[in-house]
Amino acid sequence: MSEVDQNTMKEKAAQRAADTVWSGMRLGVGTGSTVKFFIDALGKRRKEGLALGAVVTTSDRSRQQLESLGFTVGELSDVEHLDLTIDGADRVDSHLDGIKGGGGALTMEKNVAVHSLHNTWIVDESKVVDHLGGFPLPVEVLPISAKQVFNQFADEGLLPRFRTTDTNERYVTHYGNFIIDLYIDPLPAPRGLASYLDSTVGVVEHGLFLGICDTVIIAHEDNTIEIKK
Ligand code: 5RP
Repeated sequence: MSEVDQNTMKEKAAQRAADTVWSGMRLGVGTGSTVKFFIDALGKRRKEGLALGAVVTTSDRSRQQLESLGFTVGELSDVEHLDLTIDGADRVDSHLDGIKGGGGALTMEKNVAVHSLHNTWIVDESKVVDHLGGFPLPVEVLPISAKQVFNQFADEGLLPRFRTTDTNERYVTHYGNFIIDLYIDPLPAPRGLASYLDSTVGVVEHGLFLGICDTVIIAHEDNTIEIKK
């Protein structure tokens, strides 16, 4: 699949998601290239009169794009909860469990998602898998013990690698932490692995999003859109 085809699919899924947003909604907006298309579509709806109750987002990139289109972006702490969050995903399985965090925004994304009544993911068909895997699992870790946590993951056979930037610097998250990507594939038992990561001191958050998403909008190469609930 060419990048052009993939972008066309991402845009189609994003446009369909924008049709599910209504005036008055308190909306969470995620991060990534698919969400970028979603924000563009949301901007068009705003011009046609869409007036959201609140908008909260999960990265500075999305915030800037939303603000450039005239949206006022608030904080999660301004609202009791969000009605709907629309986000991309790196992988999603048939139970609507997924891997997220390819863009490094997993901590904000998970916090926004769990305080949202509904969560929709927008993906192209290449992201849909039978078993979670095929994408490195991001784990955000505190710098203070990153070395020890890395070694612990290596001892567990989780094939860790520190994420780096294009200039080979260590990638630093919005919260000043590092990301260790786990290259274990497929993930043997996502729930067991999630519990292990949740209980590891030094881990801030991980990219296993289990039981969080309720709707996935999948754009297929043959131009069809599939909605999985
Ligand atoms: C960012 C994410 C993104 O939602 C995920 O990486 C999908 O990105 P894209 O739409 O660019 O493929 O989790 O942290």
